[in-house]
Formats: sequence, C-alpha cells, structure tokens
Amino acid sequence: MRTLKIAPSILSADFSRLKEEIHAVEAAGADWLHVDVMDGHFVPNLTIGPVVVEWVRKVTDIPLDVHLMITDPDHYAPEFIKAGANWVSIHPDTCKDPNATLKKIRSLGAKTSVAVNPDVPLEKVERCFPDIDMILIMTVFPGFGGQAFIADVLPKIEQVRKLIDERKLPILVEADGGIKADNIDRVFRAGAEIMVSGSGIFKTPNYAETIRQMHRAVEAK
Ligand code: DX5
Ligand code: ZN
Repeated sequence: MRTLKIAPSILSADFSRLKEEIHAVEAAGADWLHVDVMDGHFVPNLTIGPVVVEWVRKVTDIPLDVHLMITDPDHYAPEFIKAGANWVSIHPDTCKDPNATLKKIRSLGAKTSVAVNPDVPLEKVERCFPDIDMILIMTVFPGFGGQAFIADVLPKIEQVRKLIDERKLPILVEADGGIKADNIDRVFRAGAEIMVSGSGIFKTPNYAETIRQMHRAVEAK
C-alpha cells in the first residue's frame, strides 16, 4: 500500500516569515519540504540558492526535497547537499551525462530523482532508473508556482506506477505542480505518493485543515 506524503513547496510561503511558515507546515503535518531552485536560465524565474537551504536546514529536521531547475546541476548539486538537501531532483536535459550526475549526488549522500516535464515521454528517462530513488513527474511546466494542474499528465503517472510495480523497482513517484485538496485524489489514484503543493497549501488560511483535507480526499477513494 502506498502512503501519501505531503511536500509543501516553500516557493509559495511568505519569505519574510520563512521560519514560522516552515514550522507551521511541519505542525500541520507536512512530511517533507520542497525547495524550488530556479536560475533564470533553465526557467525564466530566479528563486533560492544554497545559502537559503543552509538557513532552512538550521530551523528544521524535516527532509529537504530540492528541485533543481538550473542549467548546471553538476556544479551546484554538491553545494545544495552540503547545505542540507536530503533529496535532489535534476532535469536530465541539463546534464551531459545524467547517470553520472545522479551517481555523483548519491556518492555525496543525498537521494536522487529525475524530473520529467509534461511534454517528455517516460521512455526518455528510463535509462536513469538504476540511479534514482524517485521520479518527479511535473504536472505543470516548471518555472512558477500557482499554475494550473495539467490533467493530461495523469496517464504518464499511471504508466510509471505500472512499470515500477511490475519491475519491483525501489523508486518513489512524486508529482509537482497545481496539486490541491480538490485534485490530489486523482494524482494519488494514478500512482503518485509524494505530493508537492505550494499555493495549494501556503495560499490557504489553515494549513493543518488543508493537509487533513488532502489525506481525507485520498482515503475516501
Ligand atoms: C514549478 C515548481 C513547483 C511549484 C509548485 O516550477 O517546480 O514545485 O512551486 O507550486 P504550486 O503547487 O503552486 O503549483
Ligand atoms: Zn518543484
């Protein structure tokens, strides 16, 4: 049986009160914290660097799930791991040799993941499977929080779930983008287990109630 895990994306948090926001989602039942790193090159937005991760690490023990949307993960992934990242997701088209990058991340003590954009077929990343602990299926195009969920990606989540189960691969399935209490059940049923949610949590008035609703929505199925 799959267990639902909620990973609030701090991209939608109030950065002037980041520590309180982190503690609030932790108290509300967050399992991981998702950290969206954007460099203004791979995606047209600039967000968080290792220095922020280092400070976040000082205020929480929760697993930090760092999503690198940057052109040079080979150079920067080690810095994020040093700063406290537990999980590192890369976009494979940003590396010369994704398997080598993933191996390097593992050798530095972090768990690995490849991110798959909505228009990228699973077949393109299958060769990464021996070197990943998780696959991150994007349900929006990366770049911004608060975008609308792309339901056309659900069949790909079903496809990856089937493949992982059939081959008994030790790989978690994470989904990221536009996930909220009112669509999370569809994403879970399709086969994902780690749910990233930014605006779906941080833009709601009561984080604990929202996370409770998310669990209830999944359990009701
Ligand atoms: C999109 C990011 C997502 C995003 C999620 O580029 O990778 O993690 O912040 O935010 P919501 O849940 O608001 O779509
Ligand atoms: Zn993300």
